[in-house]
Amino acid sequence: MPNRPRLFQRIRYSIFPGSLKAEKAREGYRRLFNSLILHFRPRTVPEETLRWTLTWGLGGMAVVLVCMLLGTGVLLKFVYQPFPDKAYESILYLQRDVLFGRLIRNIHHWSANALILAGFLHLLRVFFTGAFHAPRQFNWVIGVALFLGILLSNFTGYLLPWDQLAFWAITICTGMLEYIPGIGLRLQALIQGGTEVGPGTLSNFYAIHTAILPASLLILMPFHFWRIRKVGGLVIPRPPGQGSGGQGRTVPAIPNLLLREVVVALVLLALMLVFSMLFNAPLGSEANPGLSPNPTKAPWYFMGIQEMLLHFHPTFALFIIPVLMLIALFALPYIDYELNTAGVWFASIKGRRMALIAGLAALIGTPLAILADEYLIEVAARLPAIPGWITNGLVPIALILAAITSFYVFMQRKYTASNTEAVQMVFVLLLAAFLVLTVTGIWFRGEGMKLMWPWAIGTPG
Ligand code: HEM
Ligand code: HEM
Repeated sequence: MPNRPRLFQRIRYSIFPGSLKAEKAREGYRRLFNSLILHFRPRTVPEETLRWTLTWGLGGMAVVLVCMLLGTGVLLKFVYQPFPDKAYESILYLQRDVLFGRLIRNIHHWSANALILAGFLHLLRVFFTGAFHAPRQFNWVIGVALFLGILLSNFTGYLLPWDQLAFWAITICTGMLEYIPGIGLRLQALIQGGTEVGPGTLSNFYAIHTAILPASLLILMPFHFWRIRKVGGLVIPRPPGQGSGGQGRTVPAIPNLLLREVVVALVLLALMLVFSMLFNAPLGSEANPGLSPNPTKAPWYFMGIQEMLLHFHPTFALFIIPVLMLIALFALPYIDYELNTAGVWFASIKGRRMALIAGLAALIGTPLAILADEYLIEVAARLPAIPGWITNGLVPIALILAAITSFYVFMQRKYTASNTEAVQMVFVLLLAAFLVLTVTGIWFRGEGMKLMWPWAIGTPG
């Protein structure tokens, strides 16, 4: 007979007859809970997509981190005061006198940084498993918007503690806006709420940080998940060379998917909690608009751009290159690809090899280019007769484009690659170059932004 109580249960019921009712009530609650969960999660999922090595749990981690940020952010709002003469004091008060205040701030700080990492790695996993091909193109676009939202949330949050680090990093970054042709100065004044970083900037950043951006994330995220549901779930992983074999076997989402999600969430929560107990969020001395630290650096996730500023004319480093890269990132799924490689890690065996070579080329070529620029081209740039936008703008950009194009043509001929594999190769090349620039900016730039060894002064930037 189905659902007949087991021996142990029968003995228990014979002692406590009331527990039979409790069991039924529990079953009722379980059903209610399941049907509630099924409003958000699919009823069944393709079994293959449950593989850890498809997603690495990264999208789920991003969700958990956003939730933690929303929770801790609301708590911080009870104490934080967004005024230049009170902000820093309120953080000190939070850390010293509020129960668990320091811990809440630490969790907010470290979750924000972890979210950049999780979002970035999630972007890479989606890209390298070809999960941006049709019919998932638009979800990639929503993803890029989410990533911008994460970066802006971090950036606007960075100013709020109003310490030296915050004040000068934001001064550097908003200062960069003036190089946007035409509207730069007006945009800068609008964002700063005045001609320099001050009370207007703090209240602007606070409103954007605690209202506009959280609301945008909360709208975009369900849209992101809805797109996944609409296309029947995640990409089905498959080995290189094997055609797509449809959805395969499906399994109930409860408990198969739910259990995995809960494990990822709990492990991440535990890790963030322990990390936040061990390491305090940095807080420098109170902001002093009259005394800039040397070197003055942007937040770490913008250091790649600040490093570019040392090599290119500002209009190129701060406007033309970033805007072109952003457009390319949004447009990436809409290129007319010869192969739809959705579900295959790195597109194919050939794709893997080409990506590896491109990565190595950038890892070796970029530091060499930085050194060459530092010691040779800088000399040429000082030649008085030629304007800077030519020597530091057009010339290096033309040289770089020529190098990338020759590399592209050489590799495509050597491997007779499809454009799917070739686009992936260029992506890896640019990505690795940007990572080298970021690492150089964070750890290898010292006083006056001169090149240095990180261990020369003991404390990395
Ligand atoms: C706040 C940031 C983000 C959150 C919370 C988020 C969340 C998720 C989740 C939970 C999934 C399903 C599980 C997984 O793939 O790990 C997913 C899939 C996806 N995400 Fe995101 N994501 C974010 C950012 C991004 C970014 C930056 C991109 C790319 C630019 C992106 C593109 C996609 C795509 C295309 C899928 C479908 C993948 C597939 O079908 O296999 N997402 N996202
Ligand atoms: C994706 C979401 C979010 C990110 C990435 C983020 C990021 C940050 C960062 C990096 C800081 C500076 C922390 C520090 O070093 O002190 C910060 C501070 C702050 N955030 Fe957020 N935040 C997010 C969401 C929120 C939300 C939803 C709220 C409130 C509704 C909030 C309220 C605050 C407050 C009041 C501070 C100032 C306190 C402090 O600096 O410790 N945040 N945030």
